[in-house]
Amino acid sequence: MKPVRKAVFPVGGLGTRFLPATKAIPKEMLPVVDRPLIQYAVDEAREAGIEEMIFVTGRGKSAIEDHFDIAFELEKTMSERGKATDAIEGTRFAPGAVSYVRQQDPIGLGHAVWCARHIVGDEPFAIFLADELMIGQPGCMKQMVEAYEKTGGNIVCSYEVPADQTHKYGVIDPGSDDGRLVEVKGLVEKPEQGSAPSNLMIPGRYILQPDVMRVLEDQGRGAGNEIQLTDAMAQMIGKQPFHALRFTGDRFDCGSKAGFINAQIALALRHDDIADRVRAFIAEL
Ligand code: G1P
Repeated sequence: MKPVRKAVFPVGGLGTRFLPATKAIPKEMLPVVDRPLIQYAVDEAREAGIEEMIFVTGRGKSAIEDHFDIAFELEKTMSERGKATDAIEGTRFAPGAVSYVRQQDPIGLGHAVWCARHIVGDEPFAIFLADELMIGQPGCMKQMVEAYEKTGGNIVCSYEVPADQTHKYGVIDPGSDDGRLVEVKGLVEKPEQGSAPSNLMIPGRYILQPDVMRVLEDQGRGAGNEIQLTDAMAQMIGKQPFHALRFTGDRFDCGSKAGFINAQIALALRHDDIADRVRAFIAEL
């Protein structure tokens, strides 16, 4: 079984839910406490042993490339002033370990992933949707890689949400279920209210075999008139092992304003340097 060495980060989306904040900066650069969302995802990938990062970007996303590069003036000035640069460690990759490919038209997550096909090549790969902030110990992808080492094939993360939320997500039709690992019998993208096969949604973490790229090649448009990754994955069920792993940890849907605020509060309370003041303020409110 080939190990998971590469990760794809689709970051070409327009971020319209956060306008005007995301007019001139990518939504993936919005910070939770002190780190942009995209960096939480990259850190999670590294923790899972992933070495090569592939960003599928679009116009107006160059701040992401700059974030993961040398900031010459900043670093020079900080070192001249004797300031520690620990805070920006982790924003660099080994030479050649990062690539950027552009999705020219934002016509769906499936299309974004397919744009990375030449760089992914013929090996299993992970996908991270950075607006889903997954905080676990170990991290979400590490939990998934550990499961993958036993099952092989394809694994999506899964998370239980209330039934009135399922229409916003990709949803799993579950088969056998040992409480942690769930057999995937079917997948539906954004099922209509009341028609979801379960309340297990996919919170934007995937380990997929490269065959999905061939399926995406001919994938027609689905929900929202977009080329959906979920539809391409659904075609692989029955041909290869397909499982969902229930994530143990906290999930914040930072693609929504409420989820984003919840993430700020929850993570602030885990930062020793600010937790007391934030807790006192919440109590006062
Ligand atoms: C995407 C995926 C969906 C997944 C969701 C997680 O939807 O298509 O399957 O559940 O991310 O946030 P989007 O949020 O782009 O509409």
